[in-house]
Amino acid sequence: MVKAVKEGKNLEARKDMAMSALLSGLCLSNSGLGAAHALSHPLGVYYKIPHGLSCTVLLPYVMEYNLPVVTKKLVKIAESLGENISLLSETEAAQKAVEKIKEVLSQAGINSNLSEWEIKKEDFSRLIKDAKGGSLNNNPRDISDENLIELLYKMTGLY
Ligand SMILES: [Fe+2]
Repeated sequence: MVKAVKEGKNLEARKDMAMSALLSGLCLSNSGLGAAHALSHPLGVYYKIPHGLSCTVLLPYVMEYNLPVVTKKLVKIAESLGENISLLSETEAAQKAVEKIKEVLSQAGINSNLSEWEIKKEDFSRLIKDAKGGSLNNNPRDISDENLIELLYKMTGLY
């Protein structure tokens, strides 16, 4: 991803990104999506944030939120991303997946939150209302309005 972003004319890197997009499409068609995707839709509607960007920025926040119920899956992700987890507890190893995603996004020049979009906390209630439905219902960990408010504070940089 980083290479494709930094070297936009690198056809090999672009091909790898296209393959990644295909694989992610196959995955989401079979497993569904979660809270990052659910919140990305109203953020696109009200703030015109490009869908891929908001999904990307929100992903590590939602991974961290979901960590207690998808710990083993995150451990596999950390391993597959090349993290050395041999001396870590399961929770620490799962956290490595979150940190690795943050690192890759940073290397690609993607901000760690959506602060540049100046999202207003007065809009949180309608963002949450419009996030409800398919993707949010599919989030692996139950998520209340209070949880979503907390996530929005972090994601928007208003914390
Ligand atoms: Fe989408």
